[in-house]
Amino acid sequence: MCGIVAYIGARDATPIILNGLKRLEYRGYDSAGIALIDKGKIEIRRAAGKLSNLETLVMQQPAKGAPGIGHTRWATHGAPSERNAHPHIGNMERVVVVHNGIVENFLELKDELSAEGTLFHSDTDTETIVHLVERYQAGGLNLVESARKTFQRIEGAHGVVLISTEEPDKIVCARIGNAGGVVIGLGEGENFIASDIPAILEHTRRVIFLESRQMAILTKDSVRVETLAGKEITPVIHTVSFDPVAAEKGEYRHFMQKEIHEQVRALTDTLAGRADFEKGKIRLPDLNLSAEQAKNIHKIYITACGTAAYAGMVGKILIEKIARIPVEVVIGSEFRYNDPIIDEHTVVLAISQSGETADTLAAMEEGRKKGALIWSIVNAVGSQAMRVADGSIAMQSGPEIGVASTKAFTAPLVDQYMLAVLLADLRETIDPKTRRQLVADLRLIPDLVSRTLMREAAIEKIAHSLKDIRDCLYLGRGINMPIAYEGALKLKEISYVHAEGYPAGEMKHGPIALIDENMPVVCIAPNDPWHEKMISQIQQAKARQGRVIALATDGDKLIEEMADHTIWVPDCPWMLSPVITVIPLQLLAYHIATIRGLDVDQPRNLAKSVTVE
Ligand code: AGP
Repeated sequence: MCGIVAYIGARDATPIILNGLKRLEYRGYDSAGIALIDKGKIEIRRAAGKLSNLETLVMQQPAKGAPGIGHTRWATHGAPSERNAHPHIGNMERVVVVHNGIVENFLELKDELSAEGTLFHSDTDTETIVHLVERYQAGGLNLVESARKTFQRIEGAHGVVLISTEEPDKIVCARIGNAGGVVIGLGEGENFIASDIPAILEHTRRVIFLESRQMAILTKDSVRVETLAGKEITPVIHTVSFDPVAAEKGEYRHFMQKEIHEQVRALTDTLAGRADFEKGKIRLPDLNLSAEQAKNIHKIYITACGTAAYAGMVGKILIEKIARIPVEVVIGSEFRYNDPIIDEHTVVLAISQSGETADTLAAMEEGRKKGALIWSIVNAVGSQAMRVADGSIAMQSGPEIGVASTKAFTAPLVDQYMLAVLLADLRETIDPKTRRQLVADLRLIPDLVSRTLMREAAIEKIAHSLKDIRDCLYLGRGINMPIAYEGALKLKEISYVHAEGYPAGEMKHGPIALIDENMPVVCIAPNDPWHEKMISQIQQAKARQGRVIALATDGDKLIEEMADHTIWVPDCPWMLSPVITVIPLQLLAYHIATIRGLDVDQPRNLAKSVTVE
């Protein structure tokens, strides 16, 4: 989604903003711009395409000064172009704004402003914001009050930042609804704003997260947070732990490859402080869950989008198997339109890497409205999905920069496994011996993941034999059926191959007609309770000349003889097998895309966090 960076202080804002926007590139964008106040005048530079085009423009036409605001735009209204790029300036050239979100009543506002003679210069909804602020200023209001009235007029979800020549010692910003974060970074004699932490981490680790319907007024020495109604709020100041280096690629070619290999560390971290291997117990303190509350749960909805939803599908099997609580997985974009049956015995569990996915946040709000207990499993600390929940489980996976989610898929698998054990323990529906064994099995994960990652070269070889495919089927059953969906999504989103995940048992009801010598079929067949079923699935595919790439447990000679290629994984407890079976599929997709020379970290049309509905 759109990236925002702003600065106020004694330094030249230009390099601070441009470097900050670079750290947000992973969010996906199609144009970029920067605006500064220099000697009482607003300087704007905007360019379509990659950030490098803006940097070239700034070199050719230098712009410096402070305060300054910058933006990378992911188009929602108006084609990607210089004309529609942010920042947008008012006709009186007093105010300039950057914006993340959609002004849902922009047509009405545009008509109102046009009727007063306001000229518009772009096709964007954002432009209505800057003209409204200037109109209120012209009516005698100061910058803060003009901004406040504007924020109260615009409908929808927004992250907005604006500066004005009338009061160049201030930056005003606001967060309304769920259009991505507004993070305020606290410096010494300078302050920062960004839509995500990596953009300002090199300057400060002390941050404030604006909540929905809050605004802030920054000077170089102060930050004042208020409600949109003007009531001052004492904000919580967080100290962010991860360091800038962690957000760099290190020795890897792409963030995605780095993050695939970071899963050993990420999963170790998600277990840390929660799996008590001595006592054989699970602790999830941030869930704020009592035994009485746990006993009061009759149903859990898991809601998420994309990869996170597939993690939820695994979680359903784990929670039902271990805690014997009914679970239903409903994707975020459908949840609130299904009029879900919710009462005080219902939990709505949201899973989200960014914690800012609009569809998932809207589902949480629906659950809240209907009286559910709201939980979330989130990677981005301080994000909306973490803050609005009654209890949360942090993935603790560190920043995930690659658009294709990898470590933020396996972490929630383990988090849901731990949640299932905790629920069973609190509800006293599990015997201590079984509980201790389930907890002890978690100890195997870092080594199992590490051993799986060491097989990357063999997977890269298979990728070479698949580099020109146009279609691909991924088949799985039981707890590994969601892995078929996730493996297919990985290939789709970074290599643009039409890949489809399918329940293996369903193939005979139609889709098997797709299989011939040109159709590669990835069959996920580890040593789990559905292994025998998958063997007959492989036979069915081979009988139709399908090219079978089987994923099998070390030593499975039967499958090796049947398959055209075999990807080996170490043996592991079946309830943890998705954590292992997904990794070769992440690597397979990564290498096919890399061999095809594609932009692995920023695939076309995609954004890291989809903050529009
Ligand atoms: C994952 O590879 C995709 N980029 C996408 O499906 C993603 O999982 C989905 O948009 C949800 O994002 P979230 O986890 O940040 O809510």
